[in-house]
Amino acid sequence: MKKYLVILFVFALVLCTVSGIAQPKKIRIGVLGKSVHPYWDVVRLGMATAAKELDVDATFYVPPTEDVPNQIKTLETWIGMKFDGISFAPSDPNAVNPVIKKAMANGILCISQDTDAPKSGRLCYIGTSNYEAGKIAGKKMTEILKGKGKVAICTGSITAMNSLERIKGFRDALAGSPGIKIVDPVLVDNENTAKAIELAQTALVKNPDLNAFFGVYAFNGPSAAKAVKAAGKVGKIHIVAFDTTDEHLFMIKDGLIDAAIGQRQYFMGYLSVVVLRDMIQAGKEATMMLLPKTKDGDTIIDTGVDVVTKANLANYVKMLDNWGVKHQFKP
Ligand code: BGC
Repeated sequence: MKKYLVILFVFALVLCTVSGIAQPKKIRIGVLGKSVHPYWDVVRLGMATAAKELDVDATFYVPPTEDVPNQIKTLETWIGMKFDGISFAPSDPNAVNPVIKKAMANGILCISQDTDAPKSGRLCYIGTSNYEAGKIAGKKMTEILKGKGKVAICTGSITAMNSLERIKGFRDALAGSPGIKIVDPVLVDNENTAKAIELAQTALVKNPDLNAFFGVYAFNGPSAAKAVKAAGKVGKIHIVAFDTTDEHLFMIKDGLIDAAIGQRQYFMGYLSVVVLRDMIQAGKEATMMLLPKTKDGDTIIDTGVDVVTKANLANYVKMLDNWGVKHQFKP
């Protein structure tokens, strides 16, 4: 009798495996970033860590530089592949709205990270509160310049919401310091490092009285620092940057960058997987109920920022170690 039961059990197991009952389909999600950069490697690490822990099949992609058609093509491909969920960082929110709407209409759950597209129909945004972070950068700049000086703003995009919000926050924070002048226009490099260095060099030549750079994206601060170093103006021109890649950390240590607004992008990748997996597995509404709401009823997970300077560099690096974010920096 026992022998028959065992045979029956093995037969049932084989049947289930063949028909797919015993092995539920693995959840497939895509995480889309904006440009190839060490900043995005950390988002990818967060994604891969959560995917491993939760047994999710996660795909990561970033175009080489800012590239809206490439982002749309990637989203279309993922819709065609019938992914279960997508987390996207749109370089141009208006341009991606239709394709995100299409994905949602096809039953693919979509959320945004790093930079938002609130009119796309996405279910939630996970990332920095960029306006507030821009204000923090502006306050730091005012403090460094002691309320007086000329500042150039460098960014990788003038369509992405995170860039526009950071610039707005920065300008608003400086509005109370009439002694600080902002050089117009903003220098835009489309997330291209070589172009960013070139623009910073030109700004130094055109504005011999320049006192500071505000680097809006991850490569902007280090690019401006390279231009400042080449011009022999280290210590004379101040830099407030966004992000904390190895390059930033070494430049803070060497006094090339005064302060960096560190984003916690590891969690943008990590939480993208957790939230999408829960929405897909436990249900969209059940998951949404648990997520934080703004006063307008929007669903936003604010991952927070850290202001990093020479004074707290060692402690900041300890925090990166605790999160499992790899770096080459030794304080
Ligand atoms: C921004 C990203 C950008 C990255 C690299 C970060 O500060 O949040 O949107 O792609 O810099 O440029």
